[in-house]
Amino acid sequence: MLLSLHKISSSISWQSMKEMMFSPSLFLGLYLLLKPPGLQALASHKPNMVIFMADDLGIGDIGCYGNNTIRTPNIDQLAKEGVKLTQHITAAPVCTPSRTAFLTGRYPIRSGMDDIYGYRVLQWIGSSGGLPPNEITFAKILQKQGYATGLIGKWHQGMNCGHRNDYCHHPLKHGFDYFYGMPFSMMADCQITQPPEMAVPLRIRLWFYTQLIALAVLTLTAAKLVHLVHVSWKTIFLLACFGFLFFVSWFSSYGFIRYWNCVIMRNYEIIEQPMKVEISAFLMLREAISFIERHQHGPFFLFVSFLHVHTPLVTTENFTGKSNHGLYGDNVEEMDWMIGRILNTLDNQGLKNSTLTYFTSDHGGHLEAQQGNAQLGGWNGIYKGGKAMGGWEGGIRVPGLFRWPGMLPEGMVINEPTSLMDIYPTLVHLAGGTVPQDRVIDGRNLMPLLQGNVQHSEHEFMFHYCGGYIHAVRWHQKERGNVWKAHYVTPVFQPEGAEGCYELRFCPCSGEGVTHHTPPLLFDLAQDPSEATALSPDSEPLFHAVLKRIDKAVDEHRRTLTPVPQQLSVYNIIWKPWLQPCCGTFPFCWCDKENDAYL
Ligand SMILES: *[C@@H]1O[C@H](CO)[C@@H](O)[C@H](O)[C@H]1NC(C)=O
Ligand SMILES: *[C@@H]1O[C@H](CO)[C@@H](O)[C@H](O)[C@H]1NC(C)=O
Repeated sequence: MLLSLHKISSSISWQSMKEMMFSPSLFLGLYLLLKPPGLQALASHKPNMVIFMADDLGIGDIGCYGNNTIRTPNIDQLAKEGVKLTQHITAAPVCTPSRTAFLTGRYPIRSGMDDIYGYRVLQWIGSSGGLPPNEITFAKILQKQGYATGLIGKWHQGMNCGHRNDYCHHPLKHGFDYFYGMPFSMMADCQITQPPEMAVPLRIRLWFYTQLIALAVLTLTAAKLVHLVHVSWKTIFLLACFGFLFFVSWFSSYGFIRYWNCVIMRNYEIIEQPMKVEISAFLMLREAISFIERHQHGPFFLFVSFLHVHTPLVTTENFTGKSNHGLYGDNVEEMDWMIGRILNTLDNQGLKNSTLTYFTSDHGGHLEAQQGNAQLGGWNGIYKGGKAMGGWEGGIRVPGLFRWPGMLPEGMVINEPTSLMDIYPTLVHLAGGTVPQDRVIDGRNLMPLLQGNVQHSEHEFMFHYCGGYIHAVRWHQKERGNVWKAHYVTPVFQPEGAEGCYELRFCPCSGEGVTHHTPPLLFDLAQDPSEATALSPDSEPLFHAVLKRIDKAVDEHRRTLTPVPQQLSVYNIIWKPWLQPCCGTFPFCWCDKENDAYL
């Protein structure tokens, strides 16, 4: 009853009011007047939720954010049928911490998932760092609220803590009933035809251990023979075996890195080691569609975490060479097609109106990803900088689209500052749950803003971390309409005149490669979204007052941080053979259990 009432009045309000949209405030006022009180009643129906997250996609890569040469009709359709956020901000400019923040609703520094020691992301599934077991993801709360929860695609939040099969960081330990995909991240090493990306540092480390152990074995043997030490032959033999393992690992790192990081799991089981990258898009799509079909009676939560559009841009034949922007454009268009297929499934199952659909990217496009003249990374539109840069807008401003027909307005654009961390309390609220009270949650429920019930987002300050360092701070001074941004630290671009760190491939967060600014560089994003011209005390009378207020906010924010174990410490980041997930007997890990191929 309430449901149909709501539908009638909302269709009146939206159709007739679009024509009357002379002024946004008149529009908002009328909408508030006409708006049906149906939300509470509907909320008890618990919508299904489908979340699409692209990997490394730039905000300038899709049609509804201004790209007129890459074809993304399905993503654009979400914007047309829903709400588009133009100032949607990630908490970190690289995968692991950004995804931690997304899943926990908290700055990643709060869970020890950001860089303090020079490692910015997890590098092996055979290392011990990862999303700590005491963190509560929103998936976990949805699960408690009766949702069937599934993750298809990329995880990159760790695997084991202490032994090979404890799975302490695994998706199934973090609120997902079902996992199909890559526990790690797509990378060049996964494709046999690509030059290795990670193999080289690993190889050096393994060779070092091999030599160290060989030396120990020889020394002990010699010392025992001349009766200098009392060790049993058994000990020496075991040590030699251990050394042999390292030797085999070192040897196998020549082209075998794929076997360690590039694997596909179904729940706790490795089903492809190494994965068959050429068919992974097909497998992800098949799994996402089948999850929706299995759980059509709902409520379900499906997180489609794409391997697209991370290098090496594995793209199927149907899309290769079809876009105007080389392999990168092909890969974006393939992802859009996959989204279309999944949206079709929702339609066909009659689930469109009962499903909240969301699309985003984990951070900005990777400007420095190039091969020869080919651009292999994304485009961040008018925004400066990109992936790995914590302060500049291009690294952290990403698409944010919400569609929920009948519940959210159609074709609405919201320019307020919002965060990817807001998804946490928003979805928890819609599922009828409550966010944890024993810890700081940095995200805010977006429903009032998305429905047009309030004009402003709740965010006043946002802290833009690069690893463990605050590079910049945003202050939304609501009553004046300014969006101030102060940069305390910026990366040094090279070569000179470039807008990226092309010699290093990634801009660093600290050390020689950054500049500290006193006073900080100040911009007003409301006037200068490209951060082109820094303000000065002469050009901006409020200059000192604004910086003082921001400084105070930083102090207050710092006081909310507590010391936690560092998941990206040297000990937690290194590859540990005894933690390496292995289908077979380590180091002989390979399998293809489901014999998947194109249908
Ligand atoms: C569209 O995206 C491509 C690929 O990232 C980029 O090269 C191009 O400049 C973009 N076009 C516009 C108008 O933003
Ligand atoms: C879905 O919602 C839209 C917008 O409110 C409405 O026009 C349409 O009739 C609804 N469809 C169904 C099947 O309820």
